[in-house]
Amino acid sequence: MEVPTRRPLVAGNWKMNGDKPLVDLMQNRLEQADLKHLDVVICPPFPYFGLFKSTMTLGAQNVSSFDSGAHTGEISAKMLQEFGCRYVIVGHSERRADNHESNQEVALKVATALNMKLMPILCVGESESIRDSGKLFDYITAQIDAVIKQVGIAKFSDLVLAYEPIWAIGTGKTASPAQAQEVHQFIREHLAKKNADVAANIKILYGGSVKGSNAQELFSQKDVDGGLIGGASLDPQDFLSICLAAKQ
Ligand code: PGA
Repeated sequence: MEVPTRRPLVAGNWKMNGDKPLVDLMQNRLEQADLKHLDVVICPPFPYFGLFKSTMTLGAQNVSSFDSGAHTGEISAKMLQEFGCRYVIVGHSERRADNHESNQEVALKVATALNMKLMPILCVGESESIRDSGKLFDYITAQIDAVIKQVGIAKFSDLVLAYEPIWAIGTGKTASPAQAQEVHQFIREHLAKKNADVAANIKILYGGSVKGSNAQELFSQKDVDGGLIGGASLDPQDFLSICLAAKQ
Protein backbone atom coordinates (compact mmCIF):
# COMPACT_ATOMS: atom_id res chain seq x y z
CA MET A 1 0.00 0.00 0.00
CA GLU A 2 1.19 3.49 -0.78
CA VAL A 3 2.33 5.39 2.31
CA PRO A 4 0.00 8.38 2.72
CA THR A 5 1.37 11.83 3.43
CA ARG A 6 -0.53 13.33 6.28
CA ARG A 7 -0.49 17.13 6.29
CA PRO A 8 0.64 18.25 9.77
CA LEU A 9 -1.72 20.10 12.08
CA VAL A 10 -0.89 22.24 15.09
CA ALA A 11 -3.79 23.43 17.24
CA GLY A 12 -3.51 25.91 20.09
CA ASN A 13 -5.90 25.37 22.97
CA TRP A 14 -6.01 28.59 24.94
CA LYS A 15 -8.29 27.02 27.56
CA MET A 16 -9.68 29.83 29.81
CA ASN A 17 -6.73 32.09 29.08
CA GLY A 18 -5.82 34.96 26.81
CA ASP A 19 -7.19 38.44 26.28
CA LYS A 20 -7.95 40.86 23.45
CA PRO A 21 -4.32 41.95 22.94
CA LEU A 22 -3.26 38.31 22.56
CA VAL A 23 -5.66 37.89 19.64
CA ASP A 24 -3.80 40.60 17.71
CA LEU A 25 -0.33 39.53 18.81
CA MET A 26 -0.98 35.93 17.78
CA GLN A 27 -2.51 36.84 14.42
CA ASN A 28 0.29 39.24 13.57
CA ARG A 29 2.95 36.71 14.49
CA LEU A 30 1.38 33.91 12.46
CA GLU A 31 0.63 36.13 9.47
CA GLN A 32 4.27 37.09 9.10
CA ALA A 33 5.44 33.49 8.90
CA ASP A 34 5.46 31.00 6.05
CA LEU A 35 3.20 28.24 7.33
CA LYS A 36 2.14 26.69 4.06
CA HIS A 37 3.39 23.26 5.09
CA LEU A 38 0.79 22.70 7.81
CA ASP A 39 -2.68 23.56 9.10
CA VAL A 40 -2.77 25.88 12.11
CA VAL A 41 -5.86 26.13 14.29
CA ILE A 42 -6.48 28.45 17.23
CA CYS A 43 -9.05 27.42 19.84
CA PRO A 44 -9.69 30.58 21.89
CA PRO A 45 -12.45 31.08 24.46
CA PHE A 46 -15.78 31.77 22.71
CA PRO A 47 -15.96 35.58 23.34
CA TYR A 48 -12.80 36.13 21.25
CA PHE A 49 -14.02 34.33 18.16
CA GLY A 50 -15.32 37.46 16.44
CA LEU A 51 -12.03 39.31 16.89
CA PHE A 52 -10.09 36.98 14.60
CA LYS A 53 -9.79 37.66 10.89
CA SER A 54 -11.51 35.22 8.56
CA THR A 55 -8.08 34.01 7.40
CA MET A 56 -7.47 32.30 10.77
CA THR A 57 -8.81 28.80 11.21
CA LEU A 58 -10.69 28.60 14.48
CA GLY A 59 -11.70 25.72 16.70
CA ALA A 60 -13.99 25.60 19.71
CA GLN A 61 -12.94 24.05 23.00
CA ASN A 62 -16.33 22.40 23.55
CA VAL A 63 -19.72 21.80 21.96
CA SER A 64 -23.05 20.67 23.36
CA SER A 65 -24.23 17.16 22.57
CA PHE A 66 -27.72 18.66 22.07
CA ASP A 67 -28.82 20.38 18.88
CA SER A 68 -30.73 23.18 20.67
CA GLY A 69 -33.02 23.80 23.62
CA ALA A 70 -33.02 24.63 27.32
CA HIS A 71 -29.35 24.02 28.10
CA THR A 72 -28.13 27.17 29.80
CA GLY A 73 -24.54 28.02 29.06
CA GLU A 74 -24.13 25.51 26.26
CA ILE A 75 -23.26 26.22 22.61
CA SER A 76 -24.48 24.10 19.71
CA ALA A 77 -22.56 22.77 16.73
CA LYS A 78 -24.84 24.76 14.43
CA MET A 79 -23.92 28.01 16.19
CA LEU A 80 -20.23 27.21 15.86
CA GLN A 81 -20.67 26.49 12.21
CA GLU A 82 -22.64 29.71 11.67
CA PHE A 83 -19.67 31.69 13.01
CA GLY A 84 -17.12 30.07 10.76
CA CYS A 85 -15.65 27.68 13.32
CA ARG A 86 -14.10 24.66 11.60
CA TYR A 87 -12.77 22.44 14.41
CA VAL A 88 -13.91 21.51 17.88
CA ILE A 89 -11.95 19.87 20.69
CA VAL A 90 -14.01 17.03 22.14
CA GLY A 91 -13.24 14.93 25.19
CA HIS A 92 -10.36 16.99 26.55
CA SER A 93 -9.28 15.44 29.85
CA GLU A 94 -10.09 18.67 31.71
CA ARG A 95 -13.70 18.46 30.54
CA ARG A 96 -13.84 14.72 31.21
CA ALA A 97 -12.69 15.47 34.80
CA ASP A 98 -14.33 18.85 35.60
CA ASN A 99 -17.62 18.21 33.79
CA HIS A 100 -17.82 14.45 34.26
CA GLU A 101 -17.97 13.80 30.51
CA SER A 102 -18.19 10.05 29.99
CA ASN A 103 -16.99 8.17 26.91
CA GLN A 104 -20.64 8.03 25.83
CA GLU A 105 -21.15 11.79 26.22
CA VAL A 106 -17.95 12.42 24.28
CA ALA A 107 -19.18 10.08 21.52
CA LEU A 108 -22.47 12.02 21.28
CA LYS A 109 -20.55 15.30 20.99
CA VAL A 110 -18.43 13.89 18.18
CA ALA A 111 -21.60 12.79 16.37
CA THR A 112 -23.20 16.24 16.78
CA ALA A 113 -20.08 18.00 15.54
CA LEU A 114 -19.76 15.71 12.51
CA ASN A 115 -23.42 16.32 11.61
CA MET A 116 -22.62 20.01 11.33
CA LYS A 117 -19.46 19.36 9.30
CA LEU A 118 -17.17 20.48 12.11
CA MET A 119 -13.90 18.57 12.42
CA PRO A 120 -13.70 17.09 15.93
CA ILE A 121 -10.31 16.88 17.62
CA LEU A 122 -11.04 13.84 19.75
CA CYS A 123 -8.79 13.70 22.83
CA VAL A 124 -7.82 10.48 24.53
CA GLY A 125 -5.20 9.76 27.16
CA GLU A 126 -4.47 8.12 30.47
CA SER A 127 -3.66 9.29 33.98
CA GLU A 128 -0.40 8.33 35.65
CA SER A 129 -2.16 5.73 37.81
CA ILE A 130 -3.70 4.04 34.77
CA ARG A 131 -0.31 3.92 33.04
CA ASP A 132 1.30 2.53 36.20
CA SER A 133 -1.40 -0.14 36.52
CA GLY A 134 -0.59 -1.45 33.02
CA LYS A 135 -4.10 -0.70 31.71
CA LEU A 136 -3.04 2.10 29.34
CA PHE A 137 -3.99 0.38 26.10
CA ASP A 138 -7.32 -0.95 27.41
CA TYR A 139 -8.20 2.52 28.63
CA ILE A 140 -7.45 4.22 25.32
CA THR A 141 -9.20 1.47 23.38
CA ALA A 142 -12.37 2.04 25.42
CA GLN A 143 -12.21 5.80 24.78
CA ILE A 144 -11.91 5.26 21.04
CA ASP A 145 -14.32 2.37 20.72
CA ALA A 146 -17.15 4.33 22.36
CA VAL A 147 -16.88 6.83 19.49
CA ILE A 148 -16.58 4.12 16.81
CA LYS A 149 -19.75 2.53 18.20
CA GLN A 150 -21.59 5.86 17.96
CA VAL A 151 -20.48 7.16 14.55
CA GLY A 152 -18.87 4.20 12.77
CA ILE A 153 -15.24 3.80 11.72
CA ALA A 154 -15.74 5.43 8.29
CA LYS A 155 -16.49 8.78 9.98
CA PHE A 156 -13.02 8.74 11.51
CA SER A 157 -11.81 10.08 8.17
CA ASP A 158 -13.58 13.33 9.18
CA LEU A 159 -11.91 13.72 12.54
CA VAL A 160 -8.53 14.22 14.14
CA LEU A 161 -7.30 12.28 17.17
CA ALA A 162 -5.15 13.76 19.92
CA TYR A 163 -3.22 11.59 22.33
CA GLU A 164 -2.82 13.59 25.52
CA PRO A 165 -1.41 11.74 28.52
CA ILE A 166 -3.00 13.50 31.51
CA TRP A 167 0.24 13.31 33.48
CA ALA A 168 1.94 15.43 30.80
CA ILE A 169 -0.72 18.17 30.51
CA GLY A 170 0.39 21.45 32.02
CA THR A 171 2.97 19.66 34.16
CA GLY A 172 6.08 20.31 32.12
CA LYS A 173 6.55 16.50 32.02
CA THR A 174 6.44 15.63 28.34
CA ALA A 175 6.04 12.07 27.14
CA SER A 176 9.31 10.99 25.56
CA PRO A 177 9.19 10.77 21.76
CA ALA A 178 9.33 6.96 22.13
CA GLN A 179 6.42 6.93 24.60
CA ALA A 180 4.35 9.13 22.29
CA GLN A 181 5.19 7.02 19.23
CA GLU A 182 4.30 3.79 21.08
CA VAL A 183 0.77 5.00 21.83
CA HIS A 184 0.24 6.69 18.46
CA GLN A 185 1.27 3.50 16.70
CA PHE A 186 -1.01 1.47 18.94
CA ILE A 187 -3.95 3.76 18.09
CA ARG A 188 -3.25 3.55 14.35
CA GLU A 189 -2.98 -0.24 14.49
CA HIS A 190 -6.18 -0.46 16.51
CA LEU A 191 -8.04 1.57 13.88
CA ALA A 192 -6.42 -0.43 11.07
CA LYS A 193 -8.11 -3.60 12.35
CA LYS A 194 -11.40 -1.93 11.43
CA ASN A 195 -10.42 0.15 8.40
CA ALA A 196 -6.87 0.25 7.06
CA ASP A 197 -7.46 3.26 4.85
CA VAL A 198 -8.93 5.38 7.65
CA ALA A 199 -6.06 4.36 9.95
CA ALA A 200 -3.39 5.27 7.41
CA ASN A 201 -4.82 8.70 6.75
CA ILE A 202 -6.06 9.89 10.15
CA LYS A 203 -4.02 12.58 11.87
CA ILE A 204 -2.96 11.76 15.41
CA LEU A 205 -1.70 14.78 17.35
CA TYR A 206 0.36 14.66 20.51
CA GLY A 207 -0.52 16.95 23.42
CA GLY A 208 1.12 17.47 26.79
CA SER A 209 3.75 20.13 27.56
CA VAL A 210 4.81 20.59 23.93
CA LYS A 211 7.13 23.59 23.58
CA GLY A 212 9.30 25.08 20.87
CA SER A 213 12.24 23.27 22.43
CA ASN A 214 10.78 19.74 22.27
CA ALA A 215 8.33 19.92 19.35
CA GLN A 216 10.72 18.79 16.65
CA GLU A 217 11.72 15.50 18.26
CA LEU A 218 8.09 14.68 19.08
CA PHE A 219 6.87 15.59 15.59
CA SER A 220 9.66 13.58 13.96
CA GLN A 221 8.04 10.36 15.17
CA LYS A 222 6.43 8.33 12.41
CA ASP A 223 2.89 8.38 13.76
CA VAL A 224 2.89 11.87 15.28
CA ASP A 225 1.19 14.27 12.88
CA GLY A 226 1.36 17.48 14.89
CA GLY A 227 0.31 18.74 18.27
CA LEU A 228 -2.45 20.04 20.49
CA ILE A 229 -0.76 22.81 22.44
CA GLY A 230 -1.94 24.29 25.73
CA GLY A 231 0.38 26.59 27.67
CA ALA A 232 2.78 27.28 24.82
CA SER A 233 -0.08 28.40 22.56
CA LEU A 234 -0.36 31.56 24.70
CA ASP A 235 3.12 32.66 23.69
CA PRO A 236 3.06 33.73 20.02
CA GLN A 237 6.79 33.19 19.50
CA ASP A 238 6.85 29.74 21.12
CA PHE A 239 3.67 28.71 19.30
CA LEU A 240 5.22 29.80 16.02
CA SER A 241 8.35 27.75 16.77
CA ILE A 242 6.13 24.72 17.34
CA CYS A 243 4.35 25.30 14.02
CA LEU A 244 7.68 25.59 12.23
CA ALA A 245 8.81 22.29 13.80
CA ALA A 246 6.00 20.40 12.07
CA LYS A 247 7.23 17.93 9.45
CA GLN A 248 7.74 19.47 6.03
P1 PGA B 1 -0.21 21.78 27.76
O1 PGA B 1 -1.74 21.39 27.48
O2 PGA B 1 0.45 21.98 26.43
O3 PGA B 1 -0.29 23.04 28.58
O4 PGA B 1 0.39 20.65 28.52
C1 PGA B 1 -2.07 20.53 26.43
C2 PGA B 1 -3.57 20.39 26.35
O5 PGA B 1 -4.25 20.35 27.38
O6 PGA B 1 -4.13 20.32 25.24
